[in-house]
Amino acid sequence: MNSRLDLSFVVSYRHQIFFTENAFAFKNNILKELVGVAKVLPIIDAGLVATSPTMVSDLMEYAKVNQIKLTRAPMILTGGEECKKDQSVVNAVLAAIEEDAICRHSYVLVIGGGALLDAVGFASSIAHRGVRLIRMPSTTLSQADAGVGVKNGINTFRKKNFTGTFTPPYAVINDFAFLKSLSPKNLRDGLVEAVKVALLKDPEFFKSLEKDSRELAAGNLSLISECIRRSAELHALHITKGGDPFELGSARPLDLGHWVAHKCETLSNYRLSHGEAVAIGLAVDVLCARELGLFSKSESERVIDLLVRLGFQLYTAELEMNHGDSLMQGLEEFREHLGGQLTLILPTAIGQSTNVHKLSCDVVKKVTAELSHRFLSSCAALS
Ligand SMILES: NC(=O)c1ccc[n+]([C@@H]2O[C@H](COP(=O)([O-])OP(=O)(O)OC[C@H]3O[C@@H](n4cnc5c(N)ncnc54)[C@H](O)[C@@H]3O)[C@@H](O)[C@H]2O)c1
Ligand SMILES: [Zn+2]
Repeated sequence: MNSRLDLSFVVSYRHQIFFTENAFAFKNNILKELVGVAKVLPIIDAGLVATSPTMVSDLMEYAKVNQIKLTRAPMILTGGEECKKDQSVVNAVLAAIEEDAICRHSYVLVIGGGALLDAVGFASSIAHRGVRLIRMPSTTLSQADAGVGVKNGINTFRKKNFTGTFTPPYAVINDFAFLKSLSPKNLRDGLVEAVKVALLKDPEFFKSLEKDSRELAAGNLSLISECIRRSAELHALHITKGGDPFELGSARPLDLGHWVAHKCETLSNYRLSHGEAVAIGLAVDVLCARELGLFSKSESERVIDLLVRLGFQLYTAELEMNHGDSLMQGLEEFREHLGGQLTLILPTAIGQSTNVHKLSCDVVKKVTAELSHRFLSSCAALS
C-alpha cells in the first residue's frame, strides 16, 4: 500500500552586516561582541598581509586586549582565484577546524578577498555540516557583493563555483580601512557589481555613480565606501527579501552579465578578474538587450559610458575565441547550471529588467563584433 508524508518546515536566518572603519581598534566592539567567549580560528588572505604587514599583529593585539580566544596565530592562505582552483585550501581549513576542535558554537574568522571567502566559506559549511563563519571582506568586490551573499564554493571541472553550498555567514564585517592597500585594479573591480545592481534595481544610485564616476575611477575612498554600502545593501535586500535566497527557481535576478563573465574568466585561465569579466559581461548583455529591442540605445550608451569612465575595458579576445562558439558554450553551461529553462535577466530601463529565455548566437556575435570594433577604435584614438 502506498503512503506519503508531505511536511514542510521553515528555517529562519539572520543576516548581519556591519560597516565600520578599523575593526581592530581596541575600542571597536563589533567582533568582540559577536564571538564572546567562544573559540575563533583566524584566517587571513596572504595578499592582504603582503600589503598590510601589521594586519596579523593588529588582530592578535585586538584579541588579547578584548580577551578573544584565538585558537592559533592567524593562518595565512593564498588568496585570489588560485585558492579556488583545487581542494588544497579547503582541505587545509578543514584540517585546522578539526585540529583546533572548532565546534558548531565556535567561529571561523576569514579576512580576505571574495575568492578566499568562497573557499573558506565552503570548508566551514561542510565541517560538522556547518560551523559559524564570520567574514571580513577585504576588497571592494567582496564588500559590495561576494562577502555579503550566502554562496560559497570552489572551481572544479573547469567550471566556476561548480562545487559549493548556500550557507549564510554568521555575520559580515565590512571594514573600509582594508581598502587602503588595494591596487587600483582591485579597487575598481567592486564598482562593477555596484553598476550592475544599480542598473537592475536603483536608478538614483545609477545616477549617483554617473555623477561621481570621475572621483570613483580616481580611487576616492570615501565615495567608494558609500558606493559599497549601497551595493551591499541592495544585494543583501535582494537575498533576504527577494523570495529565493538559495536560488531554487530558474531566475537569477542579479546575474546580469554573469554568464559571459564566468565563461570569459575560465577561458582566460583566470587572467581576467571577476570584476573585469563582469564589466565585459554587462556590456554584452546591455547591447544584446538593445538588439532585442528591450533597452533603448540612449540608455545602453549610458551604461557603456559609465563602465568606460570607471576605467573598465569592455572587450577581450575570449569573446570571439573559436569564432564565438566557446562563449556560446557558456550560455549552455549557464542553462545547465540553472536547470530547466534558460533564464537571463536583461535591462529594459535603468532600474528595470525582464527575464528572457532565448538569446541567439547571431545577436551575441553581432554584439561581440561591435565591442571589438569599439575597442579597436578606442586604441587607435589613443595612439
Ligand atoms: N559568493 C558569491 O556570491 C560571489 C559573488 C561575486 C564574486 N564571487 C567570487 O569572488 C572572487 C573575486 O573576489 P575579489 O574581487 O575580492 O578578488 P580576489 O579574492 O581574487 O582578490 C584579488 C587579489 O587581492 C588580494 N587582496 C585581498 N584583499 C586585499 C587588500 N585589502 N589589499 C591588497 N590586496 C588584497 C588577494 O590576495 C588577491 O590576490 C571570484 O572568485 C568570484 O567568483 C563570489
Ligand atoms: Zn559577480
